[in-house]
Amino acid sequence: MEENIIPHNFSITQQQRSNLMKHNPLLVWFTGLSGSGKSTIANALEKALISQNIHTYLLDGDNVRKGLNNNLSFSPEDRTENIRRIAEVANLMIDAGLVVIASFVSPYKEDRENVKRIVGYDNFVEVFVNTPIEECERRDVKGLYAKARAGEIKNFTGVNAPYEAPPVPDVEIDTTMVSVKEAVSLIIKFIGNKM
Ligand code: ADX
Repeated sequence: MEENIIPHNFSITQQQRSNLMKHNPLLVWFTGLSGSGKSTIANALEKALISQNIHTYLLDGDNVRKGLNNNLSFSPEDRTENIRRIAEVANLMIDAGLVVIASFVSPYKEDRENVKRIVGYDNFVEVFVNTPIEECERRDVKGLYAKARAGEIKNFTGVNAPYEAPPVPDVEIDTTMVSVKEAVSLIIKFIGNKM
């Protein structure tokens, strides 16, 4: 089928959209365990960027899994497909000119590599929210760790499914050491000259 798909060349370029927006697009990808603080920092980052007239959109695991990806489980294959679809959506949003903030457990190194391939290495910034599992479990905001320990959730990242930490993230944050405000400052410092 794919050989019969011939892309149309549209007139307006990505650069023209960026010129209108007065900044470059980017994908800021948060990875880390459930309860590590990814979405809290992602939310604060979006607020800070909007206040600097940056055009943003936030994609978050719990939200995307309620809509676009509501047919996917937490098996390794479905997580791979989850991340692939999100990368393709982010790629369209980058083409639209947005700074996309994505917050997903994304436990597999190869899946995160695939995101970089899809959106392009220059458009990708990796933020590893490296909060120790003991702390994530102590917080247990959604009560999921307790359920996983009780055997009610299988394939739960950090309990009975693996998390492959990024070996060289662009920014690394341990929320037991750094406040949300400090985390946002660290990220903005890193992405400042990329936008
Ligand atoms: S990912 O692994 O495919 O990247 P994603 O970020 O979309 O995961 O979704 C993770 C969220 O789903 C977690 O924040 C948590 O609230 C919830 N969740 C439910 N079941 C699981 C599970 N088995 N493993 C991890 N997170 C889960």
